[in-house]
Amino acid sequence: MLTLQSNVSLRTLNTFGIDVSARYFVEINSDEDLQTLLQLTDLRHVPRLILGGGSNVLFTRNFEGLVVKNCIKGIEVVQENAEHSWVRVGAGEIWHELVLYCVQKNWGGLENLSLIPGTVGAAPMQNIGAYGVEIKETFEQLEAIDTETGQKCVFEHHDCHFGYRESIFKYQARGRYIITHVTFRLNKTPVLNVAYGDIQKNLDVTDTRPLTLKSVSDAVIKIRRSKLPDPAEIGNAGSFFKNPEISTQQYDALKTEFADMPGYPTAPNTVKVPAGWLIEQAGWKGKRFGSVGVHVRQALVLVNYGGGTGGEIKALSEKIQASVYEKYGIELNTEVNFV
Ligand code: FAD
Ligand code: EPU
Repeated sequence: MLTLQSNVSLRTLNTFGIDVSARYFVEINSDEDLQTLLQLTDLRHVPRLILGGGSNVLFTRNFEGLVVKNCIKGIEVVQENAEHSWVRVGAGEIWHELVLYCVQKNWGGLENLSLIPGTVGAAPMQNIGAYGVEIKETFEQLEAIDTETGQKCVFEHHDCHFGYRESIFKYQARGRYIITHVTFRLNKTPVLNVAYGDIQKNLDVTDTRPLTLKSVSDAVIKIRRSKLPDPAEIGNAGSFFKNPEISTQQYDALKTEFADMPGYPTAPNTVKVPAGWLIEQAGWKGKRFGSVGVHVRQALVLVNYGGGTGGEIKALSEKIQASVYEKYGIELNTEVNFV
């Protein structure tokens, strides 16, 4: 049964804790709910926003349309062979709970993505990634409803155009499809990926047994808790910007002036530079401006200490972009979705 509400506060439905409201609000729990919703002719031309956990959105004003909160649940094994399990998951499942489910089954592929906030349905949107892994590596297919035709469609891997923090859903087809289910192909003989960052250092050294998916997941959780602010305590949406990729030529030229600038080759002629380093070097780390600011431990994370507005965070983000551009000639693009 659909319950359409009006003038609903979104403050607790976005991890920045921005106090705005939605003109209309509805939760959907099944494909049928979604079909019913799309048939409500009065709402056909109202602007729509699909919301999962609200951990990658910045509300800059009240939403004068319909917010659809995706609560479709369910985890089912749809296929299995000696090497793999294929798991079809409802878009409203909590991402980290899916990771823990797979770790507990000893199915590998998602453990490095432990503790990323949000829902399964939003994960393909920006091809979520952390600690050397992105979901495109285990993604099999997704099901979505095309809001233009009301038809169900299936997107295979190559249809999604996954890239670093991007997919067709974030750019070319933004807002058009409502993802209802995602299927992942998990590995029954997991290959542990502990090469990235500080994972090795954070493994439990008192445990002398062979490494498991759980050891890797625990190490990732430990690192994340030490670096990133918990949205339950300080409003934030994780990395506000993407790490910029620049040409090797530009990087080499910058290195002559800024010898300690870190960079990681991503292709023969491109280098990824940590935005957190650029922002810190430009003097922003830990700076507070009224209710908003730049996190004290991670300069890539903008925060709302309480009572800040989306407009204030947006204005701060633009000042940061301008100052990084002025100092390094590098453009920072936002990862967070502005609404
Ligand atoms: P929302 O914020 O609700 O939505 C994000 C976008 O997806 C919106 O444009 C929305 O319209 C769209 N959307 C949501 N659900 C659907 C759907 N079912 N169908 C179609 N469109 C949909 N991200 C990473 O990649 N790696 C990280 O390591 C990481 N760490 C984070 C740490 C913290 C502390 C926080 C707060 C965020 C972090 N993020 C990270 C960002 C965020 O968790 C992910 O982008 C996550 O996938 C967002 O999920 P959500 O359900 O909250 O999406
Ligand atoms: N750094 C600084 N100062 C800072 C922060 C970072 O100098 O204040 C430098 C350090 O050199 C550090 C490097 O940046 O070694 C990288 O920092 P970190 O390992 O914290 O990772 P990140 O590049 O800032 C990315 C993702 C995160 C993901 C982690 C781990 C992006 C935009 N962000 O952060 O994703 O969890 O790597 O893989 O790619 C997110 O997308 O919301 C997110 C949190």
